[in-house]
Amino acid sequence: MSTKRTVVITGASSGIGFGLVQAFLDSGFNVVGNARSEARLTEAKAELGNPESFIGVVGDIAKPETATRIFQSAIERFGKVDVLVNNAGFFLPKPFIDYTPEDLENLLDTNLKGVVYASQVAAAHMIERKQGHIINITAAVALQANIAVPAALPVLIKGGLNQMTRALALELSPHNVKVNSVAPGIIETPMHDPAIHDFLSGLAPTGRIGQVSDIADAVLYLANADFTTGVVLPVDGGMSSGKW
Ligand SMILES: NC(=O)c1ccc[n+]([C@@H]2O[C@H](COP(=O)([O-])OP(=O)(O)OC[C@H]3O[C@@H](n4cnc5c(N)ncnc54)[C@H](OP(=O)(O)O)[C@@H]3O)[C@@H](O)[C@H]2O)c1
Repeated sequence: MSTKRTVVITGASSGIGFGLVQAFLDSGFNVVGNARSEARLTEAKAELGNPESFIGVVGDIAKPETATRIFQSAIERFGKVDVLVNNAGFFLPKPFIDYTPEDLENLLDTNLKGVVYASQVAAAHMIERKQGHIINITAAVALQANIAVPAALPVLIKGGLNQMTRALALELSPHNVKVNSVAPGIIETPMHDPAIHDFLSGLAPTGRIGQVSDIADAVLYLANADFTTGVVLPVDGGMSSGKW
């Protein structure tokens, strides 16, 4: 068994997830990264220099068997999992009446079911080990909606995850498992078309888009925090602080 700590990161091949992989590797963790596209996951691993302490597990996190497979691979290779980061997700802003049944299904699949299934497998493993951290990547817009960005369904789901963070933190506290969330504001990732970066910069009082490293710093803090659980930490340049 590896003596290093091990983190599972969903949605690890791009944007925030890829930045998290780099940050956790730099901090001395073994990393198990998941995404659906094998080609992109292999490319991401090559970009990292094919480190021994990284393995990729391909699969749709909306399917419960993917979470089981990720944890089996992690335990086979590294012996245990210390931290789960539920990062896989996407944002779909549009006027409420334009959401289709397919939009709703897709949002529920990746953004909600993916978190539930991975967290269930993680919690079972962590309860047995009497330690662990589950960290969800939610969204600041679920803390304070913005009239310029209509997004009622993503807000519904990410807001639900914020509430689940508190409920699950209480439930798992007796087992020494911490549950926290990071709620990003607008972060520079492939999710956002560079053509609208100027507009997006104006959505936070600090007047800039956040960087993936801003999120990685917060996630690493929570992965190491022993006296913090049930917290939803906005990393959003003040976007959710109030009306401004
Ligand atoms: N960027 C922002 O401004 C922002 C703001 C607030 C919250 N967030 C949250 O931060 C998280 C990451 O966003 P991002 O901007 O880094 O996105 P991104 O660049 O689009 O990356 C998304 C990652 O998730 C993977 N993924 C998507 N659906 C998946 C599924 N069903 N199963 C497994 N992997 C899946 C993608 O790879 P495949 O497509 O190959 O699966 C990719 O690796 C999301 O939860 C998002 O809601 C982002």
